[in-house]
Amino acid sequence: MTMAILAAFIPGSYGGRALDKAKSLGYIEYPPKEAEQLAVVRCSQCHSLDKVTKYCFRCGPPLIVVVHNMKAFVTLWQKKFPEQQVPALTDAEAVAIAQVWSALIGNWEDGWNKNDLIKLLENDKALLKLLDTPIKARKIEAALAGKSAPGTYKEVFDDIQQPKKEQEKK
Ligand code: HEC
Repeated sequence: MTMAILAAFIPGSYGGRALDKAKSLGYIEYPPKEAEQLAVVRCSQCHSLDKVTKYCFRCGPPLIVVVHNMKAFVTLWQKKFPEQQVPALTDAEAVAIAQVWSALIGNWEDGWNKNDLIKLLENDKALLKLLDTPIKARKIEAALAGKSAPGTYKEVFDDIQQPKKEQEKK
């Protein structure tokens, strides 16, 4: 906690980085908008974002399980493509990202047998705790609920892609 408090008083980019770190470690909560950006950035590192946005309740288990599986993929990926330096997902990041996609794409946890979900989450304590939290009490998911998917993620995605495209032109 000390680090988080300190970071709040440090001006400039170091403060920013320290704050990001504090959030990724779960000391400070992600504001919903930042969680959304985090989800877009981190979930488009190994495959296109389409893979995520086209995912649906007919495709497979709820997004909380998908996010859990991606944590494991990162470990495999790091071994296979060390040069890409894909960062691991921390518990706090996974919890924030699972809420973002559940709000924007859909949450069909209720349609699944809870014990199956618990099994699929393979002792992932952070996500199991999220699974046990009613949707209304999940701050990020509740805040983003009602923002319909197509516009939202695209807006964020465009925001993030824009500067890149401009750099390419130069
Ligand atoms: C380390 C690389 C990596 C990262 C980061 C990553 N994924 Fe994946 N993702 C994969 C791989 C590998 C597959 C499997 C590819 C396949 O089978 O086509 C996959 C497949 C998927 C699928 C399809 C699963 C299915 O059952 O059809 C979804 C949805 C998905 N990822 C969502 C996400 C989300 C959400 C995030 C952000 C938390 C994310 N991915 C981040 C590597 C990654």
